[in-house]
Amino acid sequence: MGSHSKGVPAPDHGPVDWSAEDKVKIEEIFQRYPERRAGLLPVLWLAQQKWGWLSESVIRRVGLTMGLPPSDVLAVASFYTMFKKEPTGRYVLQVCHTLSCALRGADQIVSYLEGKLQIDPHTGHSPDGMFKLERVECLASCGSAPMMQVDEHFYELLTPQKIDEILDGFKSGRPLPTPRPEADQWTWNRVS
Ligand code: FES
Repeated sequence: MGSHSKGVPAPDHGPVDWSAEDKVKIEEIFQRYPERRAGLLPVLWLAQQKWGWLSESVIRRVGLTMGLPPSDVLAVASFYTMFKKEPTGRYVLQVCHTLSCALRGADQIVSYLEGKLQIDPHTGHSPDGMFKLERVECLASCGSAPMMQVDEHFYELLTPQKIDEILDGFKSGRPLPTPRPEADQWTWNRVS
């Protein structure tokens, strides 16, 4: 897993296990589906919330829980951008930069976030390690461009003011729920 150079050990959590409370949540997840393996995504999500990212140890633990080989768990985790396969900021800000978002100011959104969070251009992290900024491909919310995804939340029709509110929410530990897009809130200065 990861892209670490030869001789440099990949970061890992070491041995991990679920708490009794986690096991209750996992049982609840399994009861929602006719087959255990159908609960893989929510179990992976629970693992990421608990350990912050999906290291080899975490993937192995999820595999044992699901009765699946780690390679199958990793294949699914790798398919979804919301799952983090390396240590990263608590909040990964994934800004779409595909056509609709690009035309409606995705570059300005990225620049605004870079400046406001003092993002390191090489690592994409903020100095406090709380945020990581990424450019991603279309997230299927083109009609509400420009947009970004943070965990399971979509933030659409972004403006500097909205970004300020969203970041304040994260910093206070109370992320804002996904807001409803409102077409008349489009106030970003478009590229001429
Ligand atoms: S182009 Fe950005 S969500 Fe589709």
